[in-house]
Amino acid sequence: MPNLIHLSDLHFGPCFVPHLGQVILKEIANLNPDAVIISGDFTYRGRFAEYAAAREFVGQIVRPLLVIPGNHDQPLYSVFERLTTPYARYCQYICDTVDASLAIDGLFALGLNDCHPILPGGFWSRQQRAWIEEQLFRAPRDAVRLVATHHQFIWGGKWRPAGFWYPTRALDWLAARGVDLVLNGHTHIPTASQLGSGLVVVRAGTATSDRVRHGCGNSYNFIAVDSNQISVFVRQYDAQADAYLAAKAYTFPRRKNPN
Ligand SMILES: [Fe+2]
Ligand SMILES: [Fe+2]
Repeated sequence: MPNLIHLSDLHFGPCFVPHLGQVILKEIANLNPDAVIISGDFTYRGRFAEYAAAREFVGQIVRPLLVIPGNHDQPLYSVFERLTTPYARYCQYICDTVDASLAIDGLFALGLNDCHPILPGGFWSRQQRAWIEEQLFRAPRDAVRLVATHHQFIWGGKWRPAGFWYPTRALDWLAARGVDLVLNGHTHIPTASQLGSGLVVVRAGTATSDRVRHGCGNSYNFIAVDSNQISVFVRQYDAQADAYLAAKAYTFPRRKNPN
């Protein structure tokens, strides 16, 4: 059963802290996860130089990788490009496609681009939903089913602003299709919880930027899955140790797959 590292909100650009990037790469090498998942916001403003630095970082991760773009990965200062080809730079530097899949032994993972050029995020098109269904249909029965998006699903009980796809409905929809685990980022506040359906929802903080919020510090998640449970360790940067240390741990029972 897989061990995963979940990074998010690297934010290459003026708020990126290069030393933290080096520490993260060292920890990935030491922890040797089965896969690394990066849930968006590689850059700060979607500039070419930011993307070039992000690509150099990603190129040093020699583990199976699943990536998706975040709202900051669309070019902010090129309005025409943002409206017409918002992910051209992302596809040029980070990954050929904005929706992606990763299948390794014991893990079937999908990454969904849920960004919008203007409106707040959280959008999945009809085509994306059809793609998720089709992909999950061919997932190995005993594999952990994971879906990663950039924006959070749980919005304090409110409907997602301007979205047609209500968060609760999306989560129920994924649970009904056998998804075990949903990952996201965006808020820079790490957390993990389990819903009534048994679906585990995990959010990562910002791994390497100075845009920390609510005293959470820089962090990433280490996720260990076995046949009975899903354990999530929030590893937070400690300056004295010059390492990311386990600051919080969650353990959830694995849901029974309905399929
Ligand atoms: Fe972010
Ligand atoms: Fe974001």
